[in-house]
Amino acid sequence: MFHLYDNEKKMQIICIANQKGGAGKTTLTYNVGCMLGDEFNKRVLMVDVDGQANLTTTLDFDPDELSKPVSALLTRKDAVTKDYVVSTKFRNVDLIPSTQSTFAAEKEILNVVGREFVLSRALDQVRDDYDVVLIDIPPNLGVVSLNALIASNGVVLVYTASEFALDGLSQILAAIDEIQDNSHININKLKILGFVQNRFKSSNKVVNSKIKNILEGVPDVQNYFTAISDTTEIEKSQFDHLPMHLFNRNHKVVDQFRQLVKELLVCLA
Ligand SMILES: Nc1ncnc2c1ncn2[C@@H]1O[C@H](COP(=O)(O)OP(=O)(O)OP(=O)(O)O)[C@@H](O)[C@H]1O
Ligand SMILES: [Mg+2]
Repeated sequence: MFHLYDNEKKMQIICIANQKGGAGKTTLTYNVGCMLGDEFNKRVLMVDVDGQANLTTTLDFDPDELSKPVSALLTRKDAVTKDYVVSTKFRNVDLIPSTQSTFAAEKEILNVVGREFVLSRALDQVRDDYDVVLIDIPPNLGVVSLNALIASNGVVLVYTASEFALDGLSQILAAIDEIQDNSHININKLKILGFVQNRFKSSNKVVNSKIKNILEGVPDVQNYFTAISDTTEIEKSQFDHLPMHLFNRNHKVVDQFRQLVKELLVCLA
């Protein structure tokens, strides 16, 4: 098992990543985050750095009505992080929300001195306030996603049983490798915590085993978290703006999310 820290307990910053759109980054961030807060009593901060603002919307905020989105936090000198945090309707869960302006911030950040570290610096300000931070990234590897990876201590790689999602993984693995190889950039000692398969269908045996063979070739990463099944209940829960454990608590994916959260907490212990 991986241990992020040997000494004192620290705020853990996690990014659930895949460069491919639709792999389930936002779905997992939302369900894992809400469960960590509600059932595991962890103080959770979710950070939406995707201009699509899916996480923000799912958490019941209207991006058009937000006056302090993450884009301003990332681009304004001397921004006070706490001013950009909103509390959600879920127990122990706060959010730094996103709006479409995050797309434009991508360019603005390029002019900031120390542009790779703006999110890391912003999160440093709230180190004592949270146990876990979950960052939801867009499906690209621009400067905002790189900021998210550089700010993180751990990354969970999510994939689905499709060749495209695997391509997305290989690109993000290359970016992680580059960060890890550069000690000036790797200020938070980014570790890959493991893989999680989303939209799992046990009937898809041939593809599932081919994928596992490919992933087994990834050096140093042999940790597989509990897979999350494919179910329309997840889509329905998102329409109702509820995480699965509050939408349909007896559904099997709730047990899978709970197991995934427990495994994550072991990694973070
Ligand atoms: N396990 C699942 N079963 C069924 N549907 C799912 C599952 N996981 C995610 N989905 C659905 O797939 C779609 C894409 O998921 P999601 O938005 O979480 O992906 P993403 O990686 O965040 O995408 P993007 O890269 O565009 O941000 C959503 O409509 C979501 O409801
Ligand atoms: Mg998303």
